[in-house]
Amino acid sequence: MSHATAERRYIAQPARSVAGELTVPGDKSISHRALMLGGIAEGQTSISGFLPSADCLATLTALRSLGVFISRPTETQVRVHGVGRHGLRAAERALDLGNAGTAIRLLMGLLAGQRFDSTLIGDASLMRRPMERVAAPLRLMGAQIETQDGKPPVRIHGASGLRAIDYALPIASAQVKSALLLAALYAQGKSQISEPAPTRDHTERMLRGFGVQLNSEAGRVTLAGGQRLRGCDIEVPGDFSSAAFFIVAGCLAATQGLTIRNVGVNPTRTGLLEILRLMGADIELQPHDGEAPEPVADIHVRACRLHGIAVPEALVAPSIDEFPVLFIAAAAAAGETLVTGAAELRVKESDRLAVMATGLSALGIGCELLPDGIRIQGGPMHGGRIDSQGDHRIAMAFAIASLAASEPIEIADVANVATSFPGFPRLARAAGLALED
Ligand code: S3P
Repeated sequence: MSHATAERRYIAQPARSVAGELTVPGDKSISHRALMLGGIAEGQTSISGFLPSADCLATLTALRSLGVFISRPTETQVRVHGVGRHGLRAAERALDLGNAGTAIRLLMGLLAGQRFDSTLIGDASLMRRPMERVAAPLRLMGAQIETQDGKPPVRIHGASGLRAIDYALPIASAQVKSALLLAALYAQGKSQISEPAPTRDHTERMLRGFGVQLNSEAGRVTLAGGQRLRGCDIEVPGDFSSAAFFIVAGCLAATQGLTIRNVGVNPTRTGLLEILRLMGADIELQPHDGEAPEPVADIHVRACRLHGIAVPEALVAPSIDEFPVLFIAAAAAAGETLVTGAAELRVKESDRLAVMATGLSALGIGCELLPDGIRIQGGPMHGGRIDSQGDHRIAMAFAIASLAASEPIEIADVANVATSFPGFPRLARAAGLALED
């Protein structure tokens, strides 16, 4: 990262209300998957509502390097000219996936079944993240993969064929599950993948849309290798994980109400709504009709008094990306909030438990870091300086904290907000935040 990029910062002046209607950009998880499945499908895939963020553009560039022709009539419309399951070709150099964990892990699965070699790298944060969780089960399928001390660069050697796998994921991870499903398309026989807790099922839903038959029940997905994908049209809904910042903003300060339109509300993603309701939130969903394969809704939020809770561990996986902003809600709530069973937060774009605890303490909030969670004592928040450690969701979470803080919050190292939420500062100001960027 250049010095200038690391210097990007926000100053969030205290603000007291948010209101109105807004639409957030497209879903990141679905945009990545639409590009990859479109790339190995036969025929054209038209994607609308695509998220034009740095992470998804890294996937787009990687697929182009692998020989897929992709056009972009507009920022958010993408046409992928699929090359078929065996039409990818070797990239000339290492594929750089930037900050994108989903891109590198899903591509590991996709590339493990190819006949050519690939090398996958990323930015400083991605180069520190664990890749053996994907590499190890792929090796059981016959793939030849090397990591460096478990991290990128990931080197994949061309395979002459993969075998099906029967695998129980040791951790709840949609990225690992999805990587194995992509590899399973190239394997001989029927693969079975089971997960310890339900994780986002966008890959399963989208594979069906491409004409792939798979069975998904009781925490187990079964898929026979050798199936072809047929190009299709995909409408990407607004990203629930981006809407989450405004849902919490609404809980803290939407005395007249705040509406977020056209948000994907796949139940494997919306744990935050259940957690906030347990804390006393006033949130209503107005579902759209006929939006299969992904449910979509308008979300209406009204300010209310939140109180702390012990977050049920069953809600951790379906709200895994929402914890930074949930911790802000907890800091503004009355009483104590306890999160456990969330050790995965330590291996996200940053160690989200540690970085959030440091930031909350800097604003005067009492918290105790646990090995797999955090205890947060709600109370008055003053201003201060936060280092987001280059983590997009932490930067945005502390911007939302300005609705509860008595003084300005300066947030350093915010350039990576563009990896998931281009236009966040503008949208935040439109809603009522006093955010200078
Ligand atoms: C994602 C899965 C989650 C999530 C990430 C996106 C996906 O990661 O945190 O932002 O698109 O599959 P894990 O599978 O590591 O939990």
